[in-house]
Amino acid sequence: MSKRVIVFGASGQLGVELCAELSRRGYEVRGYSRAMLDVSSAERVERTLAEFDPAAVFNAAAYNQVDVAEREPLAAYEANALAVRNLALACHQNDARLVHFSTDYVFDGMAGRPYTETDAVHPLGAYAVSKLAGELYAQAYLSRPLIVRTSGVFGPGGRHTARGNFPELMLRLAREGKPIRVVEDHVASPTYAPGLASRSIEMLERNLDGIFHCGGGEAVSWFDYAKLIFEKAGIHADLKPTNEREYRTTARRPKFSALENARMRQCGITPMPSLADAVADYIAVRGA
Ligand SMILES: NC(=O)c1ccc[n+]([C@@H]2O[C@H](COP(=O)([O-])OP(=O)(O)OC[C@H]3O[C@@H](n4cnc5c(N)ncnc54)[C@H](OP(=O)(O)O)[C@@H]3O)[C@@H](O)[C@H]2O)c1
Repeated sequence: MSKRVIVFGASGQLGVELCAELSRRGYEVRGYSRAMLDVSSAERVERTLAEFDPAAVFNAAAYNQVDVAEREPLAAYEANALAVRNLALACHQNDARLVHFSTDYVFDGMAGRPYTETDAVHPLGAYAVSKLAGELYAQAYLSRPLIVRTSGVFGPGGRHTARGNFPELMLRLAREGKPIRVVEDHVASPTYAPGLASRSIEMLERNLDGIFHCGGGEAVSWFDYAKLIFEKAGIHADLKPTNEREYRTTARRPKFSALENARMRQCGITPMPSLADAVADYIAVRGA
């Protein structure tokens, strides 16, 4: 395999980590932020792949505004579904591997235990449907796409993105001295972006394909996750638990969407770091 790779969504939390890790491993990386290249332009995607002739394309670009997507489902669908069709078609044409990222929200959360790759999907809203459609487009046009589902991504890049991430939101609210209420009845598996980046590169280097779950490896409520963030940051915050009955959101979300990294384990991919270590590293890297 040639060492030429493209990363779309290169200025997002995952995109920056992919570019950094690929460069560290000696790849010739072209990273495109949204300002440089909007993946919903089929023509630009096609031209970019034809010109650079990469061996692999990582798609870290995504529309991630779960609640806003209920107002503008078409915008979510364009970025998360039709753009993946553009990428899959261009990868097919150029004989490039596609590594695409998806979400724990393809599940409805009713299982009450971490989801494996063989569990049935049932998305609950516009964002979730658009991400599932992205998976289907990748599978429709490519015989061996690599689709990596993840959950609650946080990485140092989130300090500089408009959307930010959960740790940054918590730390900001604590700084402002505001009372903080976080749901204790919703469970996910928060995932550290540097770990997700290196594991997905490892999967590609091992020539794996199909769907993989790459969550943080631990099922944790958002309340307990917030507690851990404050503990590792050494901050006292006015944190209290709430629940979905008190804290309503526009979009329906799965109550229990933690991911079991079953295929990663079967294939011998390096396990993800513990959540405690990941949060401690995040706090150290981001600085005070
Ligand atoms: N963040 C999470 O909690 C979470 C949870 C589950 C799954 N995931 C999945 O994990 C992957 C990485 O997420 P992340 O946390 O790194 O997201 P992120 O920080 O929000 O980054 C996404 C990037 O995609 C860019 N983008 C959006 N629309 C685009 C378009 N049409 N063309 C090109 N770039 C576009 C965004 O640019 P702008 O900022 O300029 O819009 C942003 O830089 C995504 O597939 C996401 O769906 C994330």
